[in-house]
Amino acid sequence: MRGYAFFLSLSIVPLYSQGKTDFLRDVQPIFESRCQACHGAQQQMGGLRLDSGDAALKGATDGPVISPGKSAESRLIERVSSSKKGFAMPPVGEPLTADQIAKLRAWIDEGAHVPAVSPADLALPPAAEGSAAVAGRVGAARARQAKRYAGFAAARGIRTNAEADGALLDEVAAPEPAGHALLARAAERLHLSARGYHRVLRVARTLADLEGAPIVARRHIAEALSYRRITALPEGEALRA
Ligand code: HEC
Repeated sequence: MRGYAFFLSLSIVPLYSQGKTDFLRDVQPIFESRCQACHGAQQQMGGLRLDSGDAALKGATDGPVISPGKSAESRLIERVSSSKKGFAMPPVGEPLTADQIAKLRAWIDEGAHVPAVSPADLALPPAAEGSAAVAGRVGAARARQAKRYAGFAAARGIRTNAEADGALLDEVAAPEPAGHALLARAAERLHLSARGYHRVLRVARTLADLEGAPIVARRHIAEALSYRRITALPEGEALRA
């Protein structure tokens, strides 16, 4: 057991020091659990949203709160590491832990990279607007979706992958055989529920739409499966706050 723990610490700890901070894995969960109640879809205190990477980079009413490459000059870091009452973020509850602050700093110092488009977000109803380029791609993907669903009688009123479910998804997102085989294997190995299975299909369909690909390919399934939160979420829980 001790040997195992030692092995783990050897293999995991260097990830951070090697510049491998990952927005979805390391940063988003902090924003989600501690910030989005006030900086999310429902409320945008100070004009700041922290419910997507693009929104976080866009900043607050007074401008950016993140300076990529420079955590020391980032207002977000100034706020979360402050102990001044009424200035420190979050303003309620426990302050962020040293580990959480270290992750945010590392992410910013490594350039504050965010996924170009978050397919998990895109597979859901419109949320925060991103950069113009992202908005363009997303717009084109949405147009493809609307056109496709218009051709299905069973899809009355449905315009986006976010709204499609069950049997309809089985039809519009039916992957090529290699993709289907991969999904079937993953479903078994990850013990996916029907909902989890359809979540993967929905995201894969969206990835294909972003590329303009008519058929969901194996690589779309593989990428959708790599968005761990999609499969890891408990049943009935929405993907975003
Ligand atoms: C309970 C509500 C609440 C929570 C939770 C919260 N904030 Fe805030 N935040 C505010 C309010 C209100 C303001 C605007 C007033 C101000 O600037 O102090 C603000 C402002 C900010 C600003 C300054 C924006 C600017 O214009 O400079 C930053 C940065 C910020 N918050 C980051 C965070 C981060 C990061 C978290 C999570 C770790 C967080 N906040 C959690 C309420 C909250």
